[in-house]
Parts: sequence; structure tokens; C-alpha cells
Amino acid sequence: MKAGTLPRRTVSRLLRAARAARRRAYAPYSRFPVGAAVLTSGGRVVTGGNVENASYGLSICAERAAVHAAVALGHQRLVAVAVSTGRAAAAPCGACRQVLAEFGIRTVIVDHPRGPEVWVLDDLLPRAFDRAALPRAVRRS
Ligand code: THU
Repeated sequence: MKAGTLPRRTVSRLLRAARAARRRAYAPYSRFPVGAAVLTSGGRVVTGGNVENASYGLSICAERAAVHAAVALGHQRLVAVAVSTGRAAAAPCGACRQVLAEFGIRTVIVDHPRGPEVWVLDDLLPRAFDRAALPRAVRRS
């Protein structure tokens, strides 16, 4: 299930960015700040942290915050994501896996005190729902 397709220095760069993003997370309710950093196909790194709300269900995970920030900055082709919780390794939740798949992310790096774990998204979300299942008329080009 493990994969090591990215250069080690890229993994380090993403992990540093994810840890920094965790420090900017807004998680007063769960007290579980999470940071994520996505790598674009052009080599840019875009980050996000979880942002919670007093209306709990409106909270957004760090991974989706990072992906949405990347899209807002004009990056729709993404390569990898790193996630940091500062504690045990936590793989992205199911909803985030689906969003990561939408933008082509293949590599998922999960920070861990004993060293990062590197996963392939296809192993975490086999047979993701994608646009191929949609009627031709509504598929994005
Ligand atoms: N959370 C993330 O940001 N990413 C994950 O992969 C799992 C959970 C957030 C959501 C919520 O703000 C807090 O962690 C506790 O679930």
C-alpha cells in the first residue's frame, strides 16, 4: 500500500508547509488542529487548516481547505497532499478523499512522529466516483 514516488525533499517541503498550516488552523471545538499542504502540477505548494464553526456541521477539514485554496489561486491539477495533526498519523476522511480524487491527487503523505507515511490515494479510495459516471452532457471538459 505504500508508495515513494516523490523526491524526499519534496516530501519534506510539503510536511513543513502542512505543519505550519496546522498552527493557523481554527479548531476551538475539537481542539484537533490539522494542517494540509497540496502540491500543484506546476510545483507550487498551497496550504489550508481545518476551520470549525459553532454550528459544528459547517466545519471544513484541512485537506479540503487546502484544495479549495489551490483552486481559488488557479491551480486545478494537483499531485500530492501532506497532512499533519501533530499527533498520531491520521489519513484524510472519506469526504476529503473524494475531493482529493477530483483534482488528480495520487500521493497522500501523512505526518507521524516516527516518520511520515506515504500512501496512494487509489488505495485509500478505490473506485472513486468520477465524472465518467455522469451523463456526457454534464461532464466538465
Ligand atoms: N479533520 C481534518 O481537518 N482532516 C481530517 O482528515 C480529519 C478531521 C478535522 C475536522 C475537525 O475540525 C477536526 O479535525 C476533528 O474531527
